[in-house]
Amino acid sequence: STTDQTGCGSGASPYSLLDICLNFLTANLEKFCTERQDGTLCLQEPGMFPQEVADRLLQTMAFHGLLNDGTVGIFRGNQMRLKRACIRKAKISAVAFRKAFCHHKLVELDATGVNADITITDIISGLGSNKWIQQNLQCLVLNSLTLSLEDPYERCFSQLSGLRALSITNVLFYNEDLADVASLPRLESLDISNTSVTDITALLTCKDRLKSLTMHHLKCLKMTTTQILDVIRELKYLNHLDISDDKQFTSDIALRLLEQKDILPNLVSLDISGRKHVTDKAVEAFIQQRPTMQFVGLLATDAGYSEFLTGEGNLKVSGEANETQIAEALKRYSERAFFVREALFHLFSLTHVMEKTKPEILKLVVIGMRNHPLNLPVQLAASACVFNLTKQDLAAGMPVRLLADVTHLLLKAMEHFPNHQQLQKNCLLSLCSDRILQDVPFNRFEAAKLVMQWLCNHEDQNMQRMAVAIISILAAKLSTEQTAQLGAELFIVRQLLQIVKQKTNQNLVDTTLKFTLSALWNLTDESPTTCRHFIENQGLELFMRVLESFPSESSIQQKVLGLLVSLKKKKKKA
Ligand SMILES: *[C@@H]1O[C@H](CO)[C@@H](O)[C@H](O)[C@H]1NC(C)=O
Ligand SMILES: *[C@@H]1O[C@H](CO)[C@@H](O)[C@H](O)[C@H]1NC(C)=O
Ligand SMILES: *[C@@H]1O[C@H](CO)[C@@H](O)[C@H](O)[C@H]1NC(C)=O
Ligand SMILES: *[C@@H]1O[C@H](CO)[C@@H](O)[C@H](O)[C@H]1NC(C)=O
Repeated sequence: STTDQTGCGSGASPYSLLDICLNFLTANLEKFCTERQDGTLCLQEPGMFPQEVADRLLQTMAFHGLLNDGTVGIFRGNQMRLKRACIRKAKISAVAFRKAFCHHKLVELDATGVNADITITDIISGLGSNKWIQQNLQCLVLNSLTLSLEDPYERCFSQLSGLRALSITNVLFYNEDLADVASLPRLESLDISNTSVTDITALLTCKDRLKSLTMHHLKCLKMTTTQILDVIRELKYLNHLDISDDKQFTSDIALRLLEQKDILPNLVSLDISGRKHVTDKAVEAFIQQRPTMQFVGLLATDAGYSEFLTGEGNLKVSGEANETQIAEALKRYSERAFFVREALFHLFSLTHVMEKTKPEILKLVVIGMRNHPLNLPVQLAASACVFNLTKQDLAAGMPVRLLADVTHLLLKAMEHFPNHQQLQKNCLLSLCSDRILQDVPFNRFEAAKLVMQWLCNHEDQNMQRMAVAIISILAAKLSTEQTAQLGAELFIVRQLLQIVKQKTNQNLVDTTLKFTLSALWNLTDESPTTCRHFIENQGLELFMRVLESFPSESSIQQKVLGLLVSLKKKKKKA
């Protein structure tokens, strides 16, 4: 829901007034603030923020990656009251955290992925310094953090006696820590995915409280299947259990669990994605004994293909058998790169038969792409899906704001993987759409530069044509200043002239030549620097040859003469 509230809805409805204000405030924060002596920010307006708005402001700042020691200063004092705090990916110190957040009456804190200088121990001792928080904090998310820098350190979870839900994934978190957590008197929901736990016996301490247990990819587990099942059997109140994995282990735990007759009577949700030996028959038998089941996770297993498991009715299924299952997988697993890739891969094979515009599916692709910007397999699969989902007529039905998000992410992918042919190709193919190039707001200047950079390093004829087509359309839409700035990059003019030369030598009039001439025309217009680059790189001589080589091509002549007029205008002004 974080992404929903901060600007990536399905893109069909306009932004809410609140979102517009928060985005504006976030983007211009310094203008609304004064600076304290220690360099931190403080809002100028004396008024109070309603608590929900304060929560949303913090969340918006986190979403845009703007939380640091200076900016979190606005949450000191009493102007803001936070209740559900999201400081994902903040870059803050332990001191700044304590000063900005620990005096609020926090009920929830999501500190996923904050920088490594602040440890879990710092966060908990900060929270524990406030009596109210100790008793009332209910939900704490500490994914992808460092537990402590001290060795040995003091185990500290027991301070937070009100805690009901704890998520602590991708952390070096051991059996002793699990024992500490399991003794929390109210704990109902626990996520210890990808931690270093080798033995889950400590969970027996909270067997009468635990309702939800997620242990995706518990890679260090050293128990036999029978031992694990013996612990799970005791967790009678569980309604959600996740023992999914990245397809890495050959354990038969999933199948053995499905075969148990009188285990987990209250279960409504079971995730065994990525597990081996799972069959439709076993899944069906398990579910038939539990008619209230609402979800089963079957992605990257061999199951999910039977009539019973389509995922259409009350029983949701994540899997790869059809679009409904894939959409469910993309929704649930957006934080798990491996599953995102699997789901996108299967989505791509389905796009062959998609004839309708599917904004809700494209939106799920966007979320996966945004969550894993540096994961090449995810970006490759996602960009291929984007192309097929927005091709030709399909793009027309997509909301502009969704396409703007997509375009932004495609450009990010091009930037992160400049030398990956297939990825660049997928992105260029997707960008080369009238709807995107004409109607969608995005940073056209950056896009033109990225495409140009790619063009300089590659020779592929089809891609070259597409790249110059994109550049010529972008160039026509840039402001005069931007065109000038782009043309001022010497390499761009040189590269475009190089293409003209190549085509003239081959005596070949094709769309690549036409687009290249258009781009040069647009880039020289009103830009003395571009004109100078043009002349200094023997552009005039080359254009004389073009006119001589293609005496009967009026579209070529028009563009060449257009550019020569640009040069003349420049001379007049000078
Ligand atoms: C699992 O956790 C470790 C840190 O303990 C982290 O380095 C790794 O990236 C995580 N794996 C995944 C798939 O997130
Ligand atoms: C797959 O999903 C479609 C709807 O998206 C549904 O009509 C169909 O029955 C499902 N088929 C299978 C085999 O799961
Ligand atoms: C999706 O892309 C593949 C590969 O380019 C193509 O074969 C397929 O026809 C495309 N599907 C659609 C619906 O465009
Ligand atoms: C840009 O190029 C197009 C066609 O090539 C032309 O119609 C248009 O007038 C040009 N614009 C400028 C500002 O040079």
